[in-house]
Amino acid sequence: MKIKSAEFVMSNSDVAKCPKDRFPEYAFIGRSNVGKSSLINMLMQRKSLAKTSGRPGKTQLINHFQINKNWYLVDLPGYGYARVSKSTKKVFQKFITNYFKKREQMVLAFVLIDCRLEPQSVDLEFMQWMGENEIPFSIVFTKADKLKPKALERNVLAYEQKMLESWEEMPQHFITSASNSTGRDELLGYIGGINSEIDAS
Ligand code: GTP
Ligand code: MG
Repeated sequence: MKIKSAEFVMSNSDVAKCPKDRFPEYAFIGRSNVGKSSLINMLMQRKSLAKTSGRPGKTQLINHFQINKNWYLVDLPGYGYARVSKSTKKVFQKFITNYFKKREQMVLAFVLIDCRLEPQSVDLEFMQWMGENEIPFSIVFTKADKLKPKALERNVLAYEQKMLESWEEMPQHFITSASNSTGRDELLGYIGGINSEIDAS
């Protein structure tokens, strides 16, 4: 898919205030600092469309970006960020879970996983919650540039095995790097394919 335009539309913490039009949207979710905002910038080939930071907790709202005038990317705050107070964390969780439960336009979530780490319970629990609530998602491994190919392959296989302990099959997954654009064509092609199916229906 060719990216002709990418525009920031709005930020808010209330799903009821998100854009009212019916364009399909794709949400990026995962632990703080996993690289959600960086991945959005990589896909759009824009340096700072979405705000990134070396410190976790940068993205704190639901951010809508309109792409090619006919679909949305949504940048969300991370979960599992220990440094915000418990009460703030609860508010985040509430509006994130509300977003996923209520946002009818959300056709697919990308759950981002740092490819360097062993499977983390917070991610596994989040995906479990998505499954229980019948919210479709794919997995995106991030920061692939940080591992040698063999180690990357080993980690992805280990992740797959862990998933198969509780899932019938490994969800669709992608390997990406915001630093060298690994996975860009695959992810955009996947989104483009879904958009075409929606258009045709
Ligand atoms: P929050 O908004 O805090 O939840 O974080 P986020 O998931 O949006 O992460 P963000 O994109 O802000 O990136 C966090 C840090 O990881 C930044 O220092 C990025 O430069 C770095 N980073 C993100 N993606 C990659 C990647 O693919 N490779 C490398 N080497 N660094 C990355
Ligand atoms: Mg972010």
